[in-house]
Amino acid sequence: MCGIVGYIGNKQASKIIIDGLKRLEYRGYDSAGIATLNGKIQLNKGKGKVANLEKMIGDSQNGSIGIGHTRWATHGEPNDINSHPHISQNGKLALVHNGIIENYNTLKKKLNDQGYEFYSETDTEVVAKLIESFLEKDSSSLKKAVQLALHQVTGTYGIALVHSDFPDQIIVARKGSPLLLGVGDGEMLIASDASAVAAYTDKVVYLDDGEIAVITKDDYTVESSDQVELTKEIHELALSLEEIEKGGYDHFMLKEIFEQPKAISDCLRGRINAEEGTITLGGIENVMDQLVNANRIVIAACGTSWHSGLVGEYLFEYLAKVPVEVEYASEFRYKEQLIGEGDVMIVISQSGETADTLAALREAQSRGALVLGVVNVVGSTIARETDAGVYIHAGPEIGVASTKAFTAQVTVLTLMAIRLGLEKGTIKKEEAQKLIKELALIPSKIESILENTDHIEHISRLFSYAPNFLYLGRSYSFPVALEGALKLKEISYIHAEGYPAAEMKHGPIALIDEMMPVVVIAATHHTNDKMISNIEEVKARKGRIIAITTSENGEVSDLAEFSTIIPATMDVFSPLLSVIPLQLLSYYVAVNRGCNVDQPRNLAKSVTVE
Ligand code: M6R
Repeated sequence: MCGIVGYIGNKQASKIIIDGLKRLEYRGYDSAGIATLNGKIQLNKGKGKVANLEKMIGDSQNGSIGIGHTRWATHGEPNDINSHPHISQNGKLALVHNGIIENYNTLKKKLNDQGYEFYSETDTEVVAKLIESFLEKDSSSLKKAVQLALHQVTGTYGIALVHSDFPDQIIVARKGSPLLLGVGDGEMLIASDASAVAAYTDKVVYLDDGEIAVITKDDYTVESSDQVELTKEIHELALSLEEIEKGGYDHFMLKEIFEQPKAISDCLRGRINAEEGTITLGGIENVMDQLVNANRIVIAACGTSWHSGLVGEYLFEYLAKVPVEVEYASEFRYKEQLIGEGDVMIVISQSGETADTLAALREAQSRGALVLGVVNVVGSTIARETDAGVYIHAGPEIGVASTKAFTAQVTVLTLMAIRLGLEKGTIKKEEAQKLIKELALIPSKIESILENTDHIEHISRLFSYAPNFLYLGRSYSFPVALEGALKLKEISYIHAEGYPAAEMKHGPIALIDEMMPVVVIAATHHTNDKMISNIEEVKARKGRIIAITTSENGEVSDLAEFSTIIPATMDVFSPLLSVIPLQLLSYYVAVNRGCNVDQPRNLAKSVTVE
């Protein structure tokens, strides 16, 4: 959620930290702050964007060591005081934090009794003062004071801190919130996300839970929670700056919508052989037997990834005839735990850091299930903790509204389902050949949709000020309806609901009148007749139909007030095409309404708190 970045070296730290914070701003953007060390702590922070902070500090922030933060508020409203970094009472220590300190009230009371005063409403300030209290008893080692303090803390954290009595080190520690070290030449960076360090180094060390690191400009040491020094692997970052910049587009979201043909091609590359009718998925070949013999598959994910999981349910059940349950990761943990050996859980996550998904993964693993990951961010916590997995290779997704990750996730689930079907004999080689041939055409079919965006832009102008939207779909198009509604809600703040088209008459039909835009996703052949009946039902109540359909479904176009024609494909692949106009519709509506498309209010790209 929040973004953390730090620098130690010979350059002016503030420039590098501000640059890193800008790249991390998609993770949280209600406030930002920086603390550098130049003899003493120099602190600047406030409500608002990183650009405000940059203006505030001008050229005045000195020092070649420092830490910075972009905040997504959990405890205490977004204001200047609650912004990070938080400082100790004596003003010598500055600390930034991502996560939630669950016992902060108890700790605060104890510290209050010892004479510590608190100025903010945050849980973070407690950690700064707790470390200070240990340093007052023994000022010989900052690392030791941090370790003692963290032993008293329950909850999750990724923290970074600097102290004016220890001017040549940054301390970082992690439990539940991602942190990595960027290893440079005579300089080191720390960050919650690789995009903040990519401009300076391609060598990174990922911290694992319970680890603490002491970073100097030339070196770093990492210790486990039981204080054993560790030799950590240095990973090479495969992240180009181009990938994390807008590249001429007005917004990252638009760029990422247009990147989908490439993202899907990258996702398919080296994995499919249409001639042979075979699929190779390097990351899960070793566990294929377990997957083939699975009693059932449980998919756990959140948000858009949950929607791609729902598409996965249709795919696995149809192609591989295996029972699938799709769980909100956040709910899974609190249900009676019936998962165990012989079951396979697939966790889906773009960021690979979503706290609820990670918790579901750990729960399933602890009960003996095989857990597979469908993840975008290479080296992320979920990618590292799953037993095996398939990367979606969509490239960095910066826009808070997920777009290319959805289609790439669905692509990977499709590959897994076809492969499993082949292994189980539920689909024949000839069928697989046909499926794979068609799948290989999907990128160019998406391209053809993206060549004609004017019509969607036109529709968006007509409906930008509608207070509500309804999205209807059946079968494979039902999760797409949910996804279309989520996209509209999150970036344009219009209330939207996705519904299985036939369920409409069990309630939501009461909402329909001449003011209600109803987006109908009529893109699957086997449900076409029934969709036509549903459209008639909406029309009879004067609802305004916007149809997403194919040229083969002429009747739908005739009935709809507006229709966007997408290329025909096999039903199993239809979500990969039908979602594109919905992404564009939400994008243009949000732009028309003057919304901040890439950084919608109250949201953060990576949700690292439960
Ligand atoms: O990184 P993840 O895929 O685990 O994230 C899950 C959700 O937080 C995410 O999909 C969210 O719903 C997006 N903002 C949707 O556009």
